[in-house]
Amino acid sequence: MLRLVRYFGYRGLTVARAYMQYVWDPQGRKYLDAHTGHGAAFLGHQNPRVVERVRRQVEELMVCSPSFHCSVQDEALSALERIAPRHLSWVSFGSSGAEAVETALKAAWALTGRRRVVALRGSFHGRTLGALSVTWSPRHRRPFPVVEDVAWVDPGADPGEAAGYVTADTAAVIVEPVLGEGGVVPVNPELLKALREAAEERGAVFIVDEVQTGVGRCGEVWLSEALRLRPDALVAGKALGGGFPVSAVFMVDELARSLEGRHGSTFSANPLALAAVSAAVSVVVEDSVAEKARVKGSRLLAELRRRLGGARYVRSVRGLGLMVGVELRGDPGPVIRCLQERERVLALRAGVSVVRLLPPYVLDEHDIEWLAEGLERCLAGAGGL
Ligand SMILES: Cc1ncc(COP(=O)(O)O)c(C=O)c1O
Repeated sequence: MLRLVRYFGYRGLTVARAYMQYVWDPQGRKYLDAHTGHGAAFLGHQNPRVVERVRRQVEELMVCSPSFHCSVQDEALSALERIAPRHLSWVSFGSSGAEAVETALKAAWALTGRRRVVALRGSFHGRTLGALSVTWSPRHRRPFPVVEDVAWVDPGADPGEAAGYVTADTAAVIVEPVLGEGGVVPVNPELLKALREAAEERGAVFIVDEVQTGVGRCGEVWLSEALRLRPDALVAGKALGGGFPVSAVFMVDELARSLEGRHGSTFSANPLALAAVSAAVSVVVEDSVAEKARVKGSRLLAELRRRLGGARYVRSVRGLGLMVGVELRGDPGPVIRCLQERERVLALRAGVSVVRLLPPYVLDEHDIEWLAEGLERCLAGAGGL
């Protein structure tokens, strides 16, 4: 019998169906989804606009190489123009976040002819070899032959000192504005700005990875815009297609030109993916997704702090918008299991000690109570209150 090679441990739950912020098991039990497939269903499972647009595309045209023209290409590009940072006038599509990171790195290597990359300790950029090279955790990197020429900056470093890591042989600096897998750690904006300036001074490409933080999750369509980082390349994935597997890199002109004719893939700019992106962007813009994430995120944080603020087992409650982390003084595994099995809430871990919550933007007040109360009960059960 053919078996599935898993990367993530099996969670012991069959998901039979899903709608917006909820999933159901085959027995009809309802769960609140703050896992959202690692953040991909941020616009809600089966978001009706995305489903309707993709369904129409399935019936019309499923395959069209970018060697040819099809109208959904124009539709997706003009949709993305509504949210792409103004100074980034090119986009390259992929199917996963790692592929998009890989694309941005290749463009930087091609443009500069240099090899060295500066990345943050605690970062996560994906599991293909290029993206893995700039992913911090040895747990992911070992035993693979990654690119070795990477300088690691501590996210807690003094900004001036950090800028010194960017040298004349640096091809790219890559950052996540909030370390996601690394533990939901917002990175000091001054450090990000110092790295940005150093990259500009030394002719290195500044890449911001918003695969997890972007498309409204952190209360802004792009955190890098709110922080005025002006990346040379902005990487997006996860929620970009409303759950459909698609990623993108937005690039400045000279970076895109260094890549043209040198990189691509069979499913890049696939019509179904483009249809999903077009519908997802219309949801993001027309339903004020970022603003809703900001408001609901601060409600969720306030409620979690109210209930868990004094808990012995809780080290901190932090986050931006609907990217929230509850750092514990120990392994989050039993708490995540309790949430799933007893409270019917799906969450995920980050780093070694953080319960990560990535709910969809349609989360309501009742869900916030459900989540916070469930977490409070699970922590009490773990003897931690
Ligand atoms: C910041 C960041 N970059 C890149 C990736 C890789 O994306 P994917 O798993 O779609 O390859 C992730 C995935 O969690 C991520 O959080």
